[in-house]
Amino acid sequence: MVQLTLPRNSQVTDGKAWPKPDGATNLVEYRIYRWNPDEGRNPRVDTYYVDRDDCGPMVLDGLIYIKNKIDPTLTFRRSCREGICGSCAMNIDGTNTLACTKGMDEVAGDVVKIYPLPHLPVVKDLVPDLTRFYAQHRSIEPWLKTTTPTPEKEWRQSHEDRAKLDGLYECILCACCSTSCPSYWWNGDRYLGPAILLQAYRWLIDSRDEATGERLDNLEDPFRLYRCHTIMNCAQACPKGLNPAKAIAEIKKMMVERRV
Ligand code: SF4
Ligand code: SF4
Ligand code: FES
Repeated sequence: MVQLTLPRNSQVTDGKAWPKPDGATNLVEYRIYRWNPDEGRNPRVDTYYVDRDDCGPMVLDGLIYIKNKIDPTLTFRRSCREGICGSCAMNIDGTNTLACTKGMDEVAGDVVKIYPLPHLPVVKDLVPDLTRFYAQHRSIEPWLKTTTPTPEKEWRQSHEDRAKLDGLYECILCACCSTSCPSYWWNGDRYLGPAILLQAYRWLIDSRDEATGERLDNLEDPFRLYRCHTIMNCAQACPKGLNPAKAIAEIKKMMVERRV
């Protein structure tokens, strides 16, 4: 088993400055966090130059250019390249977002600075360890739970009830929100965080689900739900424009309503 935990107090030092591509005139500078557990040394920030005339416009295009043409050891996750899979989430220019939907032109200043999502253990370079995040997602049982016999054709839902899932079903579990949340930074072992609570609410208000009481029982805990202090970093970070803080407030409201 690979040791995943990045030493928290280790200093990030300047690393290698890679040469500029021959003959290129339209360059963008990237500074990228590098850490390899097998090298047994502190993390560093390497500098690369991306030829914009030979590369797409998104930050992810630049990372792929670097990996293919300059440094194949650079490690990051990506899959869909269109903001659907959530795998390319990272900290770009100080903000958690998706590398595939963030344009190089949108980065303030001349340098694209990239770090892994904050406050998570690092597996390597820009790849965070999401084991706990996925375990927390599993803990809210993100599937339809019913007691009545399964209908012959389908579980039906009115248009109005279906509309209640808007703003929730679009979540791609990228973890940008949870890793922007100070409460999750400090209590991520016990607080579920905005992404998972938004998912929890998505099942709580699904008109077809028949386990609402059980789901609320599962959240009734000083840490799992009540560590949200409405700081709203989550809503600002979400690259899909969702509002996890609102979903959390709705869960708290459901908790109060069931007591009266
Ligand atoms: S509103 Fe709640 S979940 Fe969102 S960042 Fe603040 S404390 Fe975290
Ligand atoms: S709510 Fe937004 S930021 Fe959070 S996991 Fe879902 S898509 Fe990502
Ligand atoms: S590669 Fe899928 S969201 Fe960016």
